[in-house]
Amino acid sequence: MPDQDNGSENSYILTCEELADLFQASVDEIKEQAGHDDLIMLPGGKTGILPRKVKSILKEKGFDYSRKVISHINMRGGIGKTTATISLATRAKQYGFKTCIIDMDPQGSASLVFNIMPEDDDPVFYDVWQKPEEMTLGTIRRIDENLYILPSSLENGLLDSVLGNPASQKKAVSGVCDVLKDDGFEIIIIDNPPSLGSAVISSICASDIVVVPMFSDAFSFRGLEITLDEINSICDVFNLRIPTVKALFSKYDKRERASEMAFEKLKESYSNILIPHVIRTTTEFSKALERRETVFGSSRKNPAKQDYDMYARYILNLNGYSNKDNV
Ligand SMILES: Nc1ncnc2c1ncn2[C@@H]1O[C@H](COP(=O)(O)OP(=O)(O)OP(=O)(O)O)[C@@H](O)[C@H]1O
Ligand SMILES: [Mg+2]
Repeated sequence: MPDQDNGSENSYILTCEELADLFQASVDEIKEQAGHDDLIMLPGGKTGILPRKVKSILKEKGFDYSRKVISHINMRGGIGKTTATISLATRAKQYGFKTCIIDMDPQGSASLVFNIMPEDDDPVFYDVWQKPEEMTLGTIRRIDENLYILPSSLENGLLDSVLGNPASQKKAVSGVCDVLKDDGFEIIIIDNPPSLGSAVISSICASDIVVVPMFSDAFSFRGLEITLDEINSICDVFNLRIPTVKALFSKYDKRERASEMAFEKLKESYSNILIPHVIRTTTEFSKALERRETVFGSSRKNPAKQDYDMYARYILNLNGYSNKDNV
């Protein structure tokens, strides 16, 4: 069995234990099914399984890798939009999806996590939306095998002024997503700035699923309400299918009464959209950021991985195998 290549060829790998958990099978059964060539020894001594093999096993079980665009949106800042984007993207890659992140936030936080900061001449969304068919594989940057990003810089701060016209809002992000889908990307995950400006409206128009990360404070509840209203009016005005909308409790601290009360309020008032898995607060996120990776970069078990895995399984519809509900 080869050792993991530390040249970041394939840094995000599922362990056999994790796949066994998804299928509720034994680790030995998974190893047998994978065969020697698609297993890999991970740092820490765990056995990993290459994403291409995960994909072929899931496909054999009838899983459909149909193309989806997922946006994380809330005008409340610091609530976990970027964390949800990068965590979902790296997990989707581990589950065998060809994945691209579109970083729409001029802060460029998702790009920074992966150390992909565009130079002055490097294209960002602002440079490509008018002629997306001219995007090349050099425009989107490789993070890992089958994991790419269209990075962002301050230039994207100009988007709200150039996307003033409704026809541009309707087409800009969806045009780029269509080209990415034609290039074989199965999951496109958009990280949005903390606003509901024209660029975010354009992301809504392109999305199959909009996830609103939430927290216990009144600002994030207000952000959820405004986002829901905005989605309804945009889809009405543009005559678009309303995307699936979900709320994710992205910073849950069971020691805080405010967290408990906010989760109860969400269950009461938004039960139809609330994702039944919370993301607990933990320092694992900041530790992973220091290593310039997501929590899925390490094969060690921790609550952050556990919670974002439940989120990923739910959003990617992977739960048919463990008899839990999906989107
Ligand atoms: N569940 C969590 N537990 C602890 N820290 C978290 C959690 N989720 C996110 N964080 C941390 O909170 C900070 C803000 O998260 P993040 O950048 O994802 O928010 P954001 O909504 O994208 O912010 P912005 O609106 O500014 O783009 C980051 O330092 C991140 O590591
Ligand atoms: Mg962010």
